Amino acid sequence: MDIITEPSALGERAREWTRAGRTVGFVPTMGYLHAGHESLMALARKRAEVVVASVFVNPTQFGPGEDLEAYPRDPERDAALAKRVGVDVLFTPQAEAMYAPEAATWVEAPSLARHLCGASRPTHFRGVCTVVAKLFLLVRPTVAVFGQKDWQQLAIIRRMNADLGFGVEIVGAPIVRESDGLALSSRNVRLTPAERAEAVGISRGLALAEAMVQSGERDAGRIVAEVRARYATDMPSGVVDYLECVDPAAIEPVAAIAGPVLFAAAVKFAAVRLIDNRYVDVQAASR
Ligand code: PAF
Repeated sequence: MDIITEPSALGERAREWTRAGRTVGFVPTMGYLHAGHESLMALARKRAEVVVASVFVNPTQFGPGEDLEAYPRDPERDAALAKRVGVDVLFTPQAEAMYAPEAATWVEAPSLARHLCGASRPTHFRGVCTVVAKLFLLVRPTVAVFGQKDWQQLAIIRRMNADLGFGVEIVGAPIVRESDGLALSSRNVRLTPAERAEAVGISRGLALAEAMVQSGERDAGRIVAEVRARYATDMPSGVVDYLECVDPAAIEPVAAIAGPVLFAAAVKFAAVRLIDNRYVDVQAASR
């Protein structure tokens, strides 16, 4: 596995792959890799001849007072994991190499960022979109793999990819969970043991939402109220940032459930904000 830090060197390598007609799979990450990232890389490995992963804690997707500095980092462990999974090139740029001081261009899809994380982190998705666009331009991937835990991010990237004509096949990979159901996240490591014990409540609440749909409840407001009550009992030290039932493609609130929906939650513990979601297909539920 080669580790490349210079964008121009990666761009040159990618042009060689294009000239040689090789398929390229890409997995962008912010590092502190875990089994969730591993599953994305394994998927890219199956789908393409060359696999590129990036590790870049992208400053533009963090707002003021968020955890940019505290975001966990372990470059050596990341490189070992990427190598083990069969990544061919690991791209680990410095922020200065990715953003010129005078950079003034943003890529964004505001209509998909009105709710969920876009509402509580107003500049987050333009940072994500901009960096992913820049990475796509460098890597020129055939296929790029993103985790469904960041469902809204995936919807926005699909939109950007279509609107700007990148022509990348965007693949969404299932959420990987701890054995008790907590969604894997690089940020989990920053939970105290007591918070970790509570945090499983996030996925349990989302499972309750699904169970309510399965037993015939179609009023999203009633479901959300029930799950909120459960969150208050199960996670006394968690603050619910949002809990919503949205259309999975438009990321707009749904009141009466008549088709597939996404229940999505963000819960803040003292130093850590965690997100999770559950896709529920009402047709499948009533079959
Ligand atoms: O999902 C992430 O880790 C990041 O948002 C991404 C896609 C790597 C962009 O920085």
